[in-house]
Amino acid sequence: MSSQKTNVTLSDLEKRYRETNAESYSLFEEAISVLPGGDTRSVTYTQPFPTFIESASGCRMTTEDGDEVIDFLNNYTQAVHGHSPEPVVDAVVERFKKGNGLGSPTRDITELATRLVDRFPSVDSVRFANSGTEATMNATRAAIAYTERDHILKVKGGYHGTHDAVEVGITGDGREHPGIPSSVEERVTTVRYNDPDALKEVFEAHGSEFACFIVEPFLGAAGMIPATTEYLQTARDLTEEHDSLLVFDEVMSARVSVGGAQEKRGVIPDLTTFGKIIGGGLPVGAFGGREDVMNVYHPEEGNVGHSGTFNGNPATMAGGVVMLDLLDEDAIREINQHGDRIREEVQGIADDTDLPVTVTGEGSVFHIHFAEGPVTDFESAGSGLEATDDSGPNHSLAFYLGMRDRGIFMAPRGMGNISTPMTDEEIDSFVRAAEGALRDVEAIE
Ligand SMILES: Cc1ncc(COP(=O)(O)O)c(C=O)c1O
Repeated sequence: MSSQKTNVTLSDLEKRYRETNAESYSLFEEAISVLPGGDTRSVTYTQPFPTFIESASGCRMTTEDGDEVIDFLNNYTQAVHGHSPEPVVDAVVERFKKGNGLGSPTRDITELATRLVDRFPSVDSVRFANSGTEATMNATRAAIAYTERDHILKVKGGYHGTHDAVEVGITGDGREHPGIPSSVEERVTTVRYNDPDALKEVFEAHGSEFACFIVEPFLGAAGMIPATTEYLQTARDLTEEHDSLLVFDEVMSARVSVGGAQEKRGVIPDLTTFGKIIGGGLPVGAFGGREDVMNVYHPEEGNVGHSGTFNGNPATMAGGVVMLDLLDEDAIREINQHGDRIREEVQGIADDTDLPVTVTGEGSVFHIHFAEGPVTDFESAGSGLEATDDSGPNHSLAFYLGMRDRGIFMAPRGMGNISTPMTDEEIDSFVRAAEGALRDVEAIE
């Protein structure tokens, strides 16, 4: 591919993006007058400015500049059936019309809870919340209450949402944001991902202090990096040995098989957290697991409160039931095969360039790292939340702009994922675009 160098510069790519997204820029300018940074979600900000989306259907979105793009971002893995899937929309609208926000249980809550209990081996009993953040907050709280210990162990680079305890160490060691109290930081220990020996060491030194070890079966925000089964099994053994709880955060990984990553790996945690794909496209979170642990939330037998005006929101639950029913074994097999194809083919193209590229992922999610590899943890990932290397962010940004220019929408950090409406045609488009975008990146070397 080197022979096809075209001498593109990053500013050429940015200039072209500005020219072709002028309406988005004017909406961005309007937005920054009332929103810090022009949006209300840190991750959706990107340089030089984000694209504003006007509408979406299936696996395609229309930008405010009138371009149609294929959506490989899917709201950071939430939209597993693409946008506005008709059966889900119908269920949500029908339920909403019958009344929503009723201040009392409805049968929709039990129906979605039953789906989670039936699908996920660790889940005997479950509660709903409004985000993955609330799910991990309430799961870790259950662990603290159950074990009567204050400390949490998590992975360096492990992202579990935005409550204080789990924001510690999302970019490696230490406090991530000045807004986190230092007393919280002191309660959190971080450990290297995919390193069973590091886990053994930290448990040997502090195992009796940990209420739980919270871990993603694949490290999502830090670059879709699968855990080895050995690592997860070591985590299972050590938590058991030290009377600590194992919490799998399956907010992203629940989509890899009908029973999530826990079923696929055959490692069953004490508690599991969910979000994104389980709520009909509306805000949702859930946490569930062993009945004796979940019973800390039992109004008569337990002693931990769990309120929330929108917990178990009827329209969210009704949409979630249809969403999960549509995500059956066949649907998952197909999106996983598409994911395999992208990983294999993009890696093959990249290997023919001079660029250091490692494509990671599992099933229907993937991440294109500008790193030599192997990429096994936060430290070895070339991009991710803390891309401090001068060449990393430029490669990622150039690749992102190159993909956008070719009609592909994905995460600026290099992450993408498959939705069920996608066919070989969309996968072909992605691979072709990646070939061109990698050529751009190579040319700005
Ligand atoms: C693994 C994981 N856990 C938790 C969360 C937080 O979920 P939410 O954004 O719904 O609060 C996310 C969000 O991306 C996630 O990827």
